[in-house]
Amino acid sequence: MRSQALPGGRAASAPILGHDTEPTIFEMSVAGRSAFQLRTTGVPATSLDELVPSEHRNPEVIALAEVSERDLVGHFTRLSHRQFSVDLGAYPLGSCTMKYNPKFCDAIAADPGLNSVHPGAPAELVQGWLELLVTLEEKLCVITGMSAATLQPAAGAAGELTGLLLMRAYHEANGDARKRVLIPDSAHGTNPASVTLGGYEVTTIPSNERGLVDLEALKAALGPDVAGIMLTNPNTLGLFEEEITEIATAVHDVGGLLYYDGANLNAILGVVRPGDMGFDIVHMNLHKTFATPHGGGGPGAGPVAVSARLADFLPGPKATRGVGGAFEWSTPSSSIGRVHGWHGNAMVLARALAYIDVHGGDGLKRVAQHAVLNANWLRHRLRDTLPAAYDRVCMHECVLSASNLKSKYGVRGLDVAKALLEEGFHSPTVYFPLIVDEALMFEPTETESLQTLESLAEAIERIAQRAIDDPEALRHAPQSTPVSRVDEARAARHLISTEDAAGR
Ligand SMILES: Cc1ncc(COP(=O)(O)O)c(C=O)c1O
Repeated sequence: MRSQALPGGRAASAPILGHDTEPTIFEMSVAGRSAFQLRTTGVPATSLDELVPSEHRNPEVIALAEVSERDLVGHFTRLSHRQFSVDLGAYPLGSCTMKYNPKFCDAIAADPGLNSVHPGAPAELVQGWLELLVTLEEKLCVITGMSAATLQPAAGAAGELTGLLLMRAYHEANGDARKRVLIPDSAHGTNPASVTLGGYEVTTIPSNERGLVDLEALKAALGPDVAGIMLTNPNTLGLFEEEITEIATAVHDVGGLLYYDGANLNAILGVVRPGDMGFDIVHMNLHKTFATPHGGGGPGAGPVAVSARLADFLPGPKATRGVGGAFEWSTPSSSIGRVHGWHGNAMVLARALAYIDVHGGDGLKRVAQHAVLNANWLRHRLRDTLPAAYDRVCMHECVLSASNLKSKYGVRGLDVAKALLEEGFHSPTVYFPLIVDEALMFEPTETESLQTLESLAEAIERIAQRAIDDPEALRHAPQSTPVSRVDEARAARHLISTEDAAGR
């Protein structure tokens, strides 16, 4: 630790690297200090009074941190060294598809021709951007087997709500509002939340002994009040719903629609398409399946693609090919309206198109094949250490269970996941899906090499040995990381905002 005087004259201990507390940016603030910015516009350097009339200005001074560029860069660089990231190492966080994101996608998104365009610019001035959006929509429709898409939703959950609103609009247009949406008990928590936000009631369908939708229970739950079903395929256990065509027929027979939660699309890219399985509405998490680093909550993009009978309800305005070849904005005839202030998270969309184009059809197929191969390698290698909840061939992720460690040594899945951080790997997803005891969901993704998978497996085997040798120490892991074991429930229940912490 190095002791230094904080800007502002207060003596404090601020680390350069290590385990100590980094001051908040507000604690580093000194009135009047600022970073340097090159003037890049032709707007004359004039006073604020001339630029923005006083009646349009907020009379209150906004409490922003005032720091030099040097302090700013140092602060965020130090914080970044205390984080785990996709650029640092393997990040097998199941269901999240934290694959390494190739840098060429960032280079394309950084092109000033793309990123300095205002989203409100008239269509005739931004033909290139509109072409990009139309091309992406068309390619996503080919990948999913659907007819049209909206690129507006900002992430997967936003896509889910959009999909539910489309489902509702479709049924209401047929004079048949309906009441319930079916969801398997292995579903992600955003699914029931979206159903409720969309104004429907949830009916939960149990999984069978193979970890798949129980077809008989599904048929028993169907009726004329069912608006549809939300399914993830492969499901959140990493297992492919083998009876998907029977499920689709049964739901369609009662007039319901099939919604595809595309969080796991990485597993089937170029191999099988949701549209061909019978789905009517599909959301994609571009930030998972294609290229955008999305750790820490963003940014994302959750386009929703639909079959022809739902295309007129899509949000608008959307970029379209106009007559005469020019691109234009247009709104579908029975649109549910906007679901985003602008046209979606544009830079995530640009990265996704770059990723799709560079890989091509065969490349995308190899992405899925390698993702599935890696997950199965890990599942098989760890079968004696952490047995799989459903021990058979999985898709792109495997759900293992630490219940044997819990019953024998009192070591829980959470302890294993925390100890993995000390080994230089990000933790897997824990305690999801809820139907698996001490669930540890590993999604190695296609971007990790065999050597990395071997190191990950060895690290898990070392942790399992520690469970035998010194279970108590494992319950306090991690010890060698910048932040050791935290009480996660307390952090969520007693939120202390940065401003409160800085005494503001
Ligand atoms: C199966 C599944 N569905 C939906 C979502 C929600 O996606 P997002 O985080 O982009 O809102 C996730 C997120 O991890 C997920 O794993």
